[in-house]
Amino acid sequence: MNILVLGSGGREHALAWAIKQNPKCDRLIVAPGNAGIAMIAECASLDILDGAAVVAFAEQNTIDFVVIGPEAPLAAGVADALRAAGVLCFGPSAAAARLEASKGFTKEICDACGAPTAAWARFDAAEPARAYVHEKGAPIVVKADGLAAGKGVIVAMTEAEAIAAIDDMFGGQFGAAGAEVVIEEFMTGEEASFFVLCDGENVLPIGTAQDHKRVGDGDTGPNTGGMGAYSPAPVLTDALMEQALDRIVRPTVAEMARRGTPYQGVLYAGLMIDGNKTRLVEYNVRFGDPECQVLMLRLGAQALDLLLACAEGRLSDARVNWADDHALTVVLAAKGYPGDYAKGSPIRGLDALPEDSAHMVFHAGTAQRDGQVVANGGRVLNVTARGATLSQARDRAYAMVDRIDWPEGFCRRDIGWRAL
Ligand code: AMP
Ligand code: GLY
Repeated sequence: MNILVLGSGGREHALAWAIKQNPKCDRLIVAPGNAGIAMIAECASLDILDGAAVVAFAEQNTIDFVVIGPEAPLAAGVADALRAAGVLCFGPSAAAARLEASKGFTKEICDACGAPTAAWARFDAAEPARAYVHEKGAPIVVKADGLAAGKGVIVAMTEAEAIAAIDDMFGGQFGAAGAEVVIEEFMTGEEASFFVLCDGENVLPIGTAQDHKRVGDGDTGPNTGGMGAYSPAPVLTDALMEQALDRIVRPTVAEMARRGTPYQGVLYAGLMIDGNKTRLVEYNVRFGDPECQVLMLRLGAQALDLLLACAEGRLSDARVNWADDHALTVVLAAKGYPGDYAKGSPIRGLDALPEDSAHMVFHAGTAQRDGQVVANGGRVLNVTARGATLSQARDRAYAMVDRIDWPEGFCRRDIGWRAL
């Protein structure tokens, strides 16, 4: 098969790495890709938000299967354009991608299907939103309705913070994404991510993970896109996973089908676990980044078979071949991230690292310059390892981190602490 992956992050490097190992893959193109992806696949420049351009590229290159990595092309309808042109594709339609692109939509779906989530209200003007905050009190959570690159959620510990967030959002801080605001009850508990493939009707769990959103050790400092992850997440026991499937995921998938907008792709459920109760925090309509990196290291080549079964509506017969293993990834970021950071510093020592089914450095924001890998983004490398135990995976990952020569970078030293 000729396969096209859309995206340029560590998530897409991990997807490409797993796909490439499957003998079904003859030719692999990633658009736009990055320096690490270029070592295992052809990279092509392509406007991945332009459905017509993606269709034309797929036709020119006789692509048999397209895997869409990030949410933006999904929300822009690239999967719809591909399917309309008869190209097999992994990822939800724009209508189904609203589960990530509109927080209010997700809340409506939860209410319609009875999925447990935080109590909520939706506003299109500041004054009633402020009144709601005064009525409910703090802590309380204020969310821009639309896509805001992970920055549209304010967990306000005081009413004043919530009011400031409301004023910022209606003041245009997130543009159109903040034209509507969802205000939610603050939930306590431990967060975990649950990844499920859906073919419109059937669901197949493909792993759990925990992310580390804060930039600093001990979960301090500002939020980031994610500084590390591990899989499985022991807090999501088999019983809690069954509960989340029965009460949250399956009802959501059934409700989406009932509305004539069936969900096809990976559904990433962010869950809040409090004692023996799981509630939905949010859905994402794509793999997490860096959670995908640990999932792909664990799944390996079978990932392509699973993605194909999902896209072809064959999930009822699909099985995951689980190994009793653990994987952990440490994000190396440019100093200054998530604030301002410099690009272009050289990264040395990568060639000497092991690269096998237990060790892999996935590239996120990297580029090639004069035969040298250089930093080209905030989150730059995902140093990923697998082991029989989580502590073995962690030790292997940090042993690799310590051999990378990149003075302009930094990482958290405590990835995995909750589970270890
Ligand atoms: P989201 O983008 O919706 O995942 O929100 C980002 C983060 O905000 C989540 O991962 C949680 O840590 C936090 N969060 C969102 N909603 C709530 C809530 N209702 N209660 C507590 N924390 C929340
Ligand atoms: N790591 C969090 C996310 O991908 O949304």
